Amino acid sequence: MGSSPSSVGVIGLGYVGLPLLLAFRKAGLNVTGVDIDPDKIRLLEAGETYLSHIPGDEIARALASDSVLTTQMEALAEVEAVVIAVPTPLTDVMTPDLSYIEDTASALGPHVQPGQLISLESTTYPGTTREVLIPRLQETSGLRAGDDFLVAFSPERVDPGQSDHDITEVPKLVSGLDDESLQRAIDLYSSIVPQVVPCSSLEIAETAKILENLYRAVNIALVNEVKILADHMELDIWEIIDAAATKPFGFQAFYPGPGLGGHCLPIDPFYLNWRAKTKYDFEMRFVELAGQINTGMPLYVVERTRNALMQKKVSLIGANILLLGMSYKRDISDIRESPGLELVSLFEDREGATVSFHDPFIPVIPRTRKFPQLADRESVILDAQALEAADAVVISTDHTDVDYRLVGEHASLIVDTRNVMKGVADVRAEIVKA
Ligand SMILES: NC(=O)c1ccc[n+]([C@@H]2O[C@H](COP(=O)([O-])OP(=O)(O)OC[C@H]3O[C@@H](n4cnc5c(N)ncnc54)[C@H](O)[C@@H]3O)[C@@H](O)[C@H]2O)c1
Repeated sequence: MGSSPSSVGVIGLGYVGLPLLLAFRKAGLNVTGVDIDPDKIRLLEAGETYLSHIPGDEIARALASDSVLTTQMEALAEVEAVVIAVPTPLTDVMTPDLSYIEDTASALGPHVQPGQLISLESTTYPGTTREVLIPRLQETSGLRAGDDFLVAFSPERVDPGQSDHDITEVPKLVSGLDDESLQRAIDLYSSIVPQVVPCSSLEIAETAKILENLYRAVNIALVNEVKILADHMELDIWEIIDAAATKPFGFQAFYPGPGLGGHCLPIDPFYLNWRAKTKYDFEMRFVELAGQINTGMPLYVVERTRNALMQKKVSLIGANILLLGMSYKRDISDIRESPGLELVSLFEDREGATVSFHDPFIPVIPRTRKFPQLADRESVILDAQALEAADAVVISTDHTDVDYRLVGEHASLIVDTRNVMKGVADVRAEIVKA
């Protein structure tokens, strides 16, 4: 067993990179954080946050000393290891967009030092580290991977905003180009996690990460489909899942919802499917089917809302819909791929309703590639007046900091996609679980 390095750089200070940077610093390493976004660097230097679940004072405390924050890659020439945590989105035609990894490698290459370890953390298809990252680094550095510098792939398992899955408490998969790379990566990550799990190749670790996310996407699709059947049977899917989950083996509970969001589940499975198709002429039917079911859920919620309003002789055309929750999951401010955005668009553009929203984490909707027309919309205050003015209140995210009792007292119809009204007292509203 070797010893932990004394310095590390992190490229990409987002949902993955920022907690990593803080964890390394708290473990006593000198840290260098690099991001292409000067606003993020400015905020971090001022000890302020841009991620709602990471408080500014934690940033200020952790980065007060022995930290460099910069937009300049050349600062990384001084560190022993560099971690890359840049985005891996899909293109408009659902193929992997590796431009962030490629651009990062091109910019980093000229500053790579002999003996340095470069570790990729971005989720991506098997083969990326060996076939995309390494050639680009070699080309731009003039050095040879394995001979001159070391390369690892260690996927991130962070669950932003969920304090019971802190980054430093979850075992970490680690893989290397060769034995020395693997050992150096083990030494690096052992400084911040309780257990590192060595994998025998870069491709094993790359595929394992996608399998984890595909497993969730498929199981969520499964319960979403059973939910639709349960609605036909007039049975409560949540009660069905709770009952099944009492089995102590062979069943893991997944829960339905208004659709998948975030930078992982709606995207990662398609990376694997793309690789399967283009390299092995093999189609991953589970990926396709889960994608179809999960992307159909926002429309299902709209249909359930339309039917519930019809029972009250209210047309969805021209109805006032109040959406509770715009971020894709509880207690974070991430709206990437959020079904909340899709719901607003469906209710308004397709159905002719008027939508307002309340989200304690999203005061204003930022510009997104898919829904630019929703940019700059503001969250409304959640009070009796707003609730009474709504023909239907649609709960799309189960944020903790929402007064669901107030919602139950003043709304007339609640379409609850998260079962969050369960157990709320004094509910006068009709509740439809959707
Ligand atoms: N968000 C999650 O919950 C999560 C969990 C596990 C793995 N991942 C994976 O981790 C990777 C990063 O995801 P994220 O959610 O942290 O993304 P993010 O968008 O929150 O952060 C990425 C950061 O990289 C910066 N960046 C982009 N290009 C850059 C460049 N050329 N040089 C320097 N900085 C650059 C961006 O400005 C941004 O701050 C993705 O591959 C994602 O799939 C994400």
